[in-house]
Amino acid sequence: MFEGKRLVVGITGGIAAYKAADLVSRLSKEGAQVQVILTEAARHFISPLTLATLSRRPVLWDLFSEGHHGVQHIDVAQEADLVVVAPATANIIAKMAVGLADDLLSTVVLATKAPVLVAPAMNVNMYENPVFQQNLHRLQELGFYVIEPESGMLACGMEGKGRLAPVEQILQAAAGILNPRRDLAGKTVLVTAGGTREAIDPVRYIGNRSSGKMGYAMAAVAQERGARVVLITGPTMLPPPPGIEVIGVETTREMQVEVLRYFPKADIVVKAAAVADYRPVSLSTHKLKKTGEKLTVELEPNPDILAELGRLKDRQVLVGFAAETEELLANASHKMEKKKLDMIVANDVTREGAGFGSDTNIVSLLFADGRVVELPRMSKTEVAHRVFDHLVELPAWRSKNHAYGMEEE
Ligand code: CTP
Repeated sequence: MFEGKRLVVGITGGIAAYKAADLVSRLSKEGAQVQVILTEAARHFISPLTLATLSRRPVLWDLFSEGHHGVQHIDVAQEADLVVVAPATANIIAKMAVGLADDLLSTVVLATKAPVLVAPAMNVNMYENPVFQQNLHRLQELGFYVIEPESGMLACGMEGKGRLAPVEQILQAAAGILNPRRDLAGKTVLVTAGGTREAIDPVRYIGNRSSGKMGYAMAAVAQERGARVVLITGPTMLPPPPGIEVIGVETTREMQVEVLRYFPKADIVVKAAAVADYRPVSLSTHKLKKTGEKLTVELEPNPDILAELGRLKDRQVLVGFAAETEELLANASHKMEKKKLDMIVANDVTREGAGFGSDTNIVSLLFADGRVVELPRMSKTEVAHRVFDHLVELPAWRSKNHAYGMEEE
């Protein structure tokens, strides 16, 4: 995957810098030409000699070195096919988010036109700090690729999110960026994400725990693979993926209106949203006051959007999601049949590393022909790739898409 590719690996000053040696070694072995850049702080954690040996070329860190003929940071930036910053500290992420260029690595990042992949690693409190989170969101909005860190025991002794993503995952992401699959080129993919909300009064609503991460990953991957993507989303904390048409909705009925508006143009519909099945019969115009008595909120059913699409579909391929707490496969396959889906992605939300809010998921893919593919725990981005990998191999998709438009873009 990396044969002949030129990568800059920027290593910044965190304890996870030692893991970057493995990353550089793997990339070199797979045929990449790797130019390592260290920050001043990174040199406290890992020796340039280690990295020079693994990458088989001198390591750079000095913006003003005299050995180079030409403007070194511009040459390095221009020659790169991909820049990987791993581990990325809170400091480099803040600098990248505002465009600071006060050392070689930050200057190369600012000067390059190549994609930049960022793998943060730091203490959990730093990671959760709202200032840092804003900077990270900003990077994502700007089109930087971000691989979220893992949760676990951190070097500082604390437990939480902040461990550098596994090297294997960084390699996979880099390979995906360098060798994009364009098998959805010319297609329109409609994705729903997040949870819908049903108001009880002007202050309260009935909602659910959906973070929107799975749906946003589906949208980003579909776009990466060449599709035009429309993302219809309930309220989430996530930054809108760049280059994707995003339509924000709140209630199930609002989502239904927007989904039906775009449905005729869609080739694939991915319904990752957690849709409220019920809404209050009446919406109080004033904030309900507590009385000390029992309170009953009467609910009425919402439309089942996906079931409606199942009835309406002509050429569209429909993918549903089933978040279950029991009888995973039986419930999911029942939903697939009832809603006339081509595929359903089933996950048991009670398992650790799966479901709401998590960056990873453990899912089974069920197909209309009865096949079941169980996937191990993986990032939501990787799950999204697997879903589309299987989808483009479905007989229903292949027969329709050889007939029209596979080459158009
Ligand atoms: N869905 C939908 N409209 C609804 C409810 C669900 O479009 N009113 C979609 C979801 O986006 C998901 C799939 O249907 O892709 C399955 O959702 P789920 O809530 O698990 O299924 P339900 O049919 O509502 O079954 P139940 O709540 O009884 O588990």
